[in-house]
Amino acid sequence: MIIRDATAADLTAITDIYTESVINGVATYELEPPSTVEMTARFGAITGNRYPYIVAEEDGAILGYAYAGAFRTRPAYNWICEDSIYLSPQARGRGVGSALLAELITRCEALGFRQMIAVIGGAHPASVAVHARAGFEHQGTLKATGYKHGRWLDTTFMEKTLGEGASTDPDPDVYPGTLYRV
Ligand SMILES: CC(C)(COP(=O)(O)OP(=O)(O)OC[C@H]1O[C@@H](n2cnc3c(N)ncnc32)[C@H](O)[C@@H]1OP(=O)(O)O)[C@@H](O)C(=O)NCCC(=O)NCCS
Repeated sequence: MIIRDATAADLTAITDIYTESVINGVATYELEPPSTVEMTARFGAITGNRYPYIVAEEDGAILGYAYAGAFRTRPAYNWICEDSIYLSPQARGRGVGSALLAELITRCEALGFRQMIAVIGGAHPASVAVHARAGFEHQGTLKATGYKHGRWLDTTFMEKTLGEGASTDPDPDVYPGTLYRV
């Protein structure tokens, strides 16, 4: 397995992976799968604003993908980011998610982000576990904040300090992310 930057050529596979999670899962609170055209536009917004977007590939097949984006768009949030990870069902449970998250953390630290936030739909145990394994701390759960598949879902927040964290001030003129929410 290799982990590399995603390219536009990966977006059909990425859309297929995300579609499965939209239809069957609780990680995302989207209810209708976006088209490949929409996923391509989102990819452009993420990478165009300097956030990392990566894939795990094995024997030419995309096993999963991960990216960072803005947590919220007000400028005081500029030095933190939110991660997203999605794997095809057959790729789960063998360390691919952990490998993608480790690479995303490395890249976001290098860019100068200070915190990474995981917003975990449905408080899903696999997602909580992959983030805990990477050193994220549980920061709280918002009860009954999503409604999908005919039931209310809790949303768990986890957080990992990156780089110098809060031990130094950021440079107010040089921030790693942008104001775009993706
Ligand atoms: C959540 C997801 C990214 C995890 O990736 P993964 O490759 O399956 O996880 P890993 O194999 O790296 O396992 C990491 C840890 O999670 C645990 N884990 C994996 N699946 C689990 C499950 N279904 N229930 C409980 N724990 C689980 C593993 O035991 C491991 O913990 P350990 O190191 O203490 O043994 C993946 O399952 C996935 O894509 N799920 C659907 C989409 C999703 O939920 N995305 C998260 C959005 S925030």
